[in-house]
Parts: sequence; C-alpha cells; structure tokens
Amino acid sequence: MLIPTTETKKLKLAILVSGGGTNLQAILDRIDDGYLSDCEISVVISNKASAHALERAKNRGIPTATVIRKQYQRASDFDNALAAAVTAHKTDLVVMAGFLAVVGEDFTKRFEGMMINIHPSLIPAFCGTGFYGLIPHIKALEYGVKVTGATVHFVNAEPDAGPIILQKAVNVQQDDTPEILQQRVMKEAEWEILPQAIRLYADKRIKVEGRIVKIT
Ligand code: GRF
Repeated sequence: MLIPTTETKKLKLAILVSGGGTNLQAILDRIDDGYLSDCEISVVISNKASAHALERAKNRGIPTATVIRKQYQRASDFDNALAAAVTAHKTDLVVMAGFLAVVGEDFTKRFEGMMINIHPSLIPAFCGTGFYGLIPHIKALEYGVKVTGATVHFVNAEPDAGPIILQKAVNVQQDDTPEILQQRVMKEAEWEILPQAIRLYADKRIKVEGRIVKIT
C-alpha cells in the first residue's frame, strides 16, 4: 500500500548579515515558536567574517558563507560572488537583516521581488546612502522627531527605496541617546515586523502594484 508522504515545502530563506544578528535571532526565535514553522534558513551570508550573526547561525548548524568586498577588485565581481553564495543554496526569499554592504543593480535585479530589507527608520525619513547602524537614530534625534520606527521593504536598485511592505512606529523619549533609541526600535519594531513580513510572503499575501504593496 502506498503511504502518502506529506513533503511539506518549506520557504527557504537566505539571510544576509553584517553585524550582531539580532534580526536573524528574531527570525530563528519565530521559527522555534512555530510562527515561521514552515520556513527554513538555508544559509547565512556575511560580508564581515567577524559578524556575530555568523556565530548565531553556526550554533544552529546553519550553513554560512562570507563574501568580503575587498577580496574583489570590481564591485560587479563582489555582487556575482554574493549571488553565487545565495544560489549555492535553494532560496525562495533573500532577507537583508542588518546587511551593510552596497550591492549593484545586477544583484538587486536578479532577486527583485524575492529580496527584502529591514531599515531602522520610517522610510522615506532618515534612509538612503550613508544611513546605516546608529546614523538613522542620530539624525532622528538631531531633527527632533517625536516618532521614528522601522520599515521592511522590497529591495530595488536604489538604497532603501523599494516598495514598503510593513512599518512600525516607535515613540522617541526625551532622554533618548542614539543607542537607547536603536535598542527600542529593534525591540519594539524590527524584531516584530521582519518575521511578520516573512510570514506574509510565505502566505503569498503580498501584492505589489507599482510602488504600492497590498496585503491580501
Ligand atoms: C539594526 O538596527 C538593523 O536595522 C540595522 O543594523 C542594526 C543591527 O542589526 N540594519 P542586527 O542586530 O545585525 O540584526
């Protein structure tokens, strides 16, 4: 008698990282608690060999790769090596989670529609070239905004300019330092909306119409 096998097709994620990997950890935690049980991280790739995010992956037995920009003379060679590291593993969705390397148009075009990024501000505020790590928070405090937050968006050729999938606002408090604000934005926004965006993508609930993303 043939026993039907339910080969559950998991959504394969390639996670691109550069730093501490707290957004990667948020995804791992949501896989563990079942919210993303139908997702699987196929590889974690960093442009920094020292990224603690790589340790987080190794501790879970997840394949890792490093692609170091200065090892490539041309930016296009770096992009090709990064793309090869992604496609060396079955990938349905590329997730830039605290990834700080600049990638070129060939790379973004190759994965357009299946690559998302988390940015620590309410785009279009405090984003684009030069706005990474603490800088968006420093600029938000300097400007005196009362609300900031995080954005998950599709990646296109222009930095932080792809169609917005989810955003979450976070109040700025009077005694905030950039570090305190960064922690609050990560805790209250980034670590929540990045897994949510992956959930929506896995459920095929994201519809892009030009710049506008509709959740069905
Ligand atoms: C986070 O603020 C993220 O939004 C930004 O880099 C910071 C560190 O991210 N891109 P992680 O801890 O490496 O996920």
